[in-house]
Amino acid sequence: MTQDELKKAVARAALAYLVDGEIVGVGTGSTANCFIDELAGIRHRIRGAVASSETTRKRLEGHGITVFDLDTVDVIPVYVDGADEINATLQMIKGGGGALTREKIVAAVAAKFVCIADGSKLVTVLGHFPLPVEVIPMAIGHVCRQLAAIGGTPRLREGFVTDNGNLIVDVSGLAILDASALETRINQIVGVVTNGLFAHRPADVCLLATQGGVQTLS
Ligand code: 5RP
Repeated sequence: MTQDELKKAVARAALAYLVDGEIVGVGTGSTANCFIDELAGIRHRIRGAVASSETTRKRLEGHGITVFDLDTVDVIPVYVDGADEINATLQMIKGGGGALTREKIVAAVAAKFVCIADGSKLVTVLGHFPLPVEVIPMAIGHVCRQLAAIGGTPRLREGFVTDNGNLIVDVSGLAILDASALETRINQIVGVVTNGLFAHRPADVCLLATQGGVQTLS
């Protein structure tokens, strides 16, 4: 199977986690896009969706799926999203698509986070993928200096502005042995909106597409 076929397989498998008549939270990225396309076929089963980005909102609406603003919704039984890296305890690095803040907010509301990924995303130690950090524009210099002081090499994502009007810094060279501690530490830097570590709120289930089929990690 190609990587695209793996993404489609895992997106299809995630449909089993939907709760009929309820709202589903939907992530951002190429794997999440495959999930949105699968959702189109069963849209009569759900009440609608909450989107983690404007790109996702447009794709959902393009399929005729009702998109609710998060502040109008109390309960999201399931959130389905991809990851840039995931480890055995289902902690993740996310934000390759720059939607990390809204993804983290929707994930915080959701009762269950189902991560959908192809096998290449499973790692022993997080951090080979540069960690995305969303930053308030006026703080960019300060935040980059602070990230360098904790051992990272920050790099501004050129020409990219988030849905929230902020900037993204991708940080390489971090040794992420304690993901929860690092998530907290980076979030404490003044000017950081959030960072792409999902350690305090890891996935509850990971559906991992491999050549041997879809594996479930939980
Ligand atoms: C976007 C994300 C995505 O989930 C992550 O980048 C994975 O994307 P893809 O499915 O395209 O590999 O966090 O902000």
